[in-house]
Amino acid sequence: MTSKIEHTVIIGGSSGIGLATAKKLLGPGMKVTITGRNQDKLVGAWKSLGGAADKAAFDASRPDEVRQFFARLGPFDHLVLAASGGKGLGPFETLDLADIAGGVDEKVRPQLSCLQAALPTLNKSGSVTFISAVSAQVTMPGVAGIGAVNGMLLTVTPILAVELKPLRVNVVAPGVIDTPWWDFLPEEQRRAVFAEYAGKTPVGRIGRAEDVASAIAFLVSNGFMTGQVLTCDGGLRFAA
Ligand SMILES: NC(=O)c1ccc[n+]([C@@H]2O[C@H](COP(=O)([O-])OP(=O)(O)OC[C@H]3O[C@@H](n4cnc5c(N)ncnc54)[C@H](OP(=O)(O)O)[C@@H]3O)[C@@H](O)[C@H]2O)c1
Repeated sequence: MTSKIEHTVIIGGSSGIGLATAKKLLGPGMKVTITGRNQDKLVGAWKSLGGAADKAAFDASRPDEVRQFFARLGPFDHLVLAASGGKGLGPFETLDLADIAGGVDEKVRPQLSCLQAALPTLNKSGSVTFISAVSAQVTMPGVAGIGAVNGMLLTVTPILAVELKPLRVNVVAPGVIDTPWWDFLPEEQRRAVFAEYAGKTPVGRIGRAEDVASAIAFLVSNGFMTGQVLTCDGGLRFAA
């Protein structure tokens, strides 16, 4: 008897959490397609996977490109939405409120637009996993904007789990994870920020992309999980 090979598409699979998820999921029973905008980065990621994944370069914030990608792809089983955004960070008093709309455009709309375009070809027995952030769950000063953006994905998850049933819809909320997302900070400042967060985090360290990949793989593979927020933050949300 031959067992079915499933197919996971990872939007934002060329770096960080998405790439670690591709590494985790790839295997005899799972085909993986990774996507990203930057072709060179995508090829580098594909090589790091030993050429074992499929790859496609397109911008998930452009609805036409999204529609074309899913129309070409054909039927598949699982969708992981790891495309990033970083707007909305900073003290509320001086926060440029346009950054909240910018954060939605960079992260929320692309994730929702990919899911919408995928629905006709996404296996109803499969799953969708959004990637939000713990910024939507903490009370730390400076995250009101980015938390508001990420909170939208926490809100839609249980609604879509019911509306799109039996498709399973879950969301992972990562804490501070050492990925290229933080490259906007100079090296020394980044190390200082990581050390500060490690000190605040109950497990005593910041996260690795592999930590979050394990949480995503659990939601992809467990057929009884839906409508759930899985926070993967080392306990950071309980920090004062
Ligand atoms: N790292 C953290 O501390 C942290 C914490 C909480 C939540 N998160 C969330 O986790 C998710 C993954 O972030 P990460 O840390 O793995 O960041 P990352 O290393 O920067 O990876 C982001 C990935 O998304 C792709 N991407 C970004 N915009 C895209 C677009 N418009 N269309 C297609 N692909 C796009 C990037 O490739 P291209 O640039 O080539 O397009 C890359 O593959 C994000 O949603 C992020 O907000 C991260």
